[in-house]
Amino acid sequence: MMPRTPEPELMDDAAQAQAYDAADFSGAHGRRVELFRERYPEKDIDGAVLDLGCGSGDVLERFAQAFPAARFTGVDGAAAMLALAQRRMEKAGLSARMNFVRALIPSPDIPADDYAVVMSHSLLHHLHDPGVLWRTVKERAGANSFVFIADLRRPESEARAQELVDTLSAGEPEVLQQDFYNSLLAAFTAEEIRAQLDAAGLSSLAVEEVDEIHVLVHGVIA
Ligand SMILES: C[S@@+](CC[C@H](N)C(=O)[O-])C[C@H]1O[C@@H](n2cnc3c(N)ncnc32)[C@H](O)[C@@H]1O
Repeated sequence: MMPRTPEPELMDDAAQAQAYDAADFSGAHGRRVELFRERYPEKDIDGAVLDLGCGSGDVLERFAQAFPAARFTGVDGAAAMLALAQRRMEKAGLSARMNFVRALIPSPDIPADDYAVVMSHSLLHHLHDPGVLWRTVKERAGANSFVFIADLRRPESEARAQELVDTLSAGEPEVLQQDFYNSLLAAFTAEEIRAQLDAAGLSSLAVEEVDEIHVLVHGVIA
């Protein structure tokens, strides 16, 4: 298995943020709500949702459309991404249920609430120290919070990563293909994530490889 090559944490470059925002993630992100529904024990989310590393809000918008009774706090360290997320929610008429906070995780500025769901999508592979995500989950998720973290998982070699980029992102702009490649190399394996959770005292959470490139972490903190 090739070792991990970390990438920069924040996506604070305006051009990079815009390219990410303009990308068509309907495949992976469209399926995200479905994967959540299959694992979430309740029928609906009635309460607060925390989204760590919300970026420009593509996944957040899908959750807001799917769960009209929920309200959302989106946290990101990149001002460029948050500006795009705010604009997206205004366009979609969802701003009234959104609260955006600029904070570099881990941060005391992440609002505490009685969260029904603490989620994160594609943040983990950006973190130089993955422990900051698990500490934040522990601090902000209560006994009644459902934790749902989705991310990429690292392929066994650079050649395999390149094959995945060529197959799955053909037709996307070069900058996005490069981002995808870098992200695959920066991602953790399911085994590494299992070890991170055990070290963080989060052994009750399940780790699940859902397809060739994605891994989910989900459950309730014991
Ligand atoms: C690949 S994007 C994912 C965005 C969104 N969740 C989605 O799935 O479309 C990762 C986001 O995490 C943010 N990020 C990375 N490290 C962070 C940190 N330590 N604190 C806060 N945000 C961070 C980046 O700025 C970026 O917006």
